[in-house]
Amino acid sequence: MLIAPSMLAADFLHLSKDVETVNACADIIHLDIMDGTFVPNISFGFPVVEAIAKIARKPMDVHLMIVHPEKYVERFAKAGASMISFHYEAALEESDAVIDLIHSFNIKAGIVINPDCPVEKIFPYLGKVDYVLLMSVFAGFGGQKFIETTYDRVKAVKKELKRIGSKALIEVDGGVSPQNAGKLAKAGVDILVAGSAVFKAEDPAAVVAALRG
Ligand code: DX5
Ligand code: ZN
Repeated sequence: MLIAPSMLAADFLHLSKDVETVNACADIIHLDIMDGTFVPNISFGFPVVEAIAKIARKPMDVHLMIVHPEKYVERFAKAGASMISFHYEAALEESDAVIDLIHSFNIKAGIVINPDCPVEKIFPYLGKVDYVLLMSVFAGFGGQKFIETTYDRVKAVKKELKRIGSKALIEVDGGVSPQNAGKLAKAGVDILVAGSAVFKAEDPAAVVAALRG
């Protein structure tokens, strides 16, 4: 299991300390980009990602919660992203083109859906993405409660990936904690994103270890 702490829950006055925590004990640095339009919240943008890139020793996973993801893929690629995901709901029939664009920068491409989007909507893209991000809360805010239907959604995507012979990874994001990590692993998740559970803890490294199970 790969663990991707979400910097949305980090201490922005001491960001370097929290990046070093990820460097030391986790696998991926998850960066949530919100535009106030696709989601009703604004997080952070290029200057913050570029600053993190200077000390990041783990791959940066940029989760775009924005309209027109195609406009910003290049900037995030140049800022140092190793993985970029975009919401299917923001791209719809342009999803194919966005995946190709991300790949053109030699970056892993992920497609994301919110909990109310039928998983079948992204089946046409499973053959070309490197990972699928299934939201286990509605995108936009950290600290929300995990939605239990996620397990069945993971299993359905896993089954389809197997059917088409794809090695794409499954990532889950939102309300992830040591309490649900085991069941998510069993359902077929490869990457767990966790914000509050890691950074609001007394001992983030211990939580990462517990998530890894
Ligand atoms: C929500 C973000 C998540 C968020 C997770 O829109 O995509 O990455 O930071 O935070 P927790 O783990 O606190 O639910
Ligand atoms: Zn995220």
